[in-house]
Amino acid sequence: MHRVRAGAAATHPAGRPDAGLPGPLAGRVVIVTGAARGLGRAYTLELCRQGAAVVATDVDEAALKEAADAVRDVPGSVHAQACDITDPDTPRLLLRTALRRYGQLHGLVSNAGLLRSGPILGLDDDDLRLLLDVHVTAAFRFAAGHRRLLAGRSQGGPGHRRRRGPHHLLGRPVRLQGRSRV
Ligand SMILES: NC(=O)c1ccc[n+]([C@@H]2O[C@H](COP(=O)([O-])OP(=O)(O)OC[C@H]3O[C@@H](n4cnc5c(N)ncnc54)[C@H](O)[C@@H]3O)[C@@H](O)[C@H]2O)c1
Repeated sequence: MHRVRAGAAATHPAGRPDAGLPGPLAGRVVIVTGAARGLGRAYTLELCRQGAAVVATDVDEAALKEAADAVRDVPGSVHAQACDITDPDTPRLLLRTALRRYGQLHGLVSNAGLLRSGPILGLDDDDLRLLLDVHVTAAFRFAAGHRRLLAGRSQGGPGHRRRRGPHHLLGRPVRLQGRSRV
């Protein structure tokens, strides 16, 4: 598998979920993992059709770009950021990307996955570790990263990077803390 870590990012089309755009999900911001093909690509397109802004990620950078380029003539937009979700930094990077670009986050579609055929007891240790990393650990890190961002709401102090306007994460106000590497 071609692996990339935090590859190039681009938004397609150039729009943002500004007020006034049509669609029942206008103004909603959703992260979709495994967005380059299959179900993830379909989820991304449908969310954009309904007006959402999608932060889309996949380990396959070329296929992700192609999927994002295919999002046309819809009210929403997709910001494509190629990442390997087994990288421990990826969930935090994507959460921060969503908040810095759009100031809020409403949902996560934890879709990235590896389909393996054959009996599960036939997996060797490396395959088993990769399956758990993609399907379980990454989703846990998103949840833990989300919790840490929420916990940062009431904390301030030196080194905190204050930004204009409130950020919202899953409908609750958050304050980003620390120095971002996004
Ligand atoms: N298609 C089915 O019938 C079916 C059935 C049950 C469950 N699922 C689950 O639904 C999800 C989507 O299925 P699909 O058929 O669209 O699969 P798919 O193989 O077409 O797409 C999965 C995407 O996840 C990406 N991905 C894999 N590892 C990644 C990583 N480390 N970091 C970032 N992206 C990564 C792949 O590059 C790929 O684009 C998977 O989690 C799968 O296990 C699918």
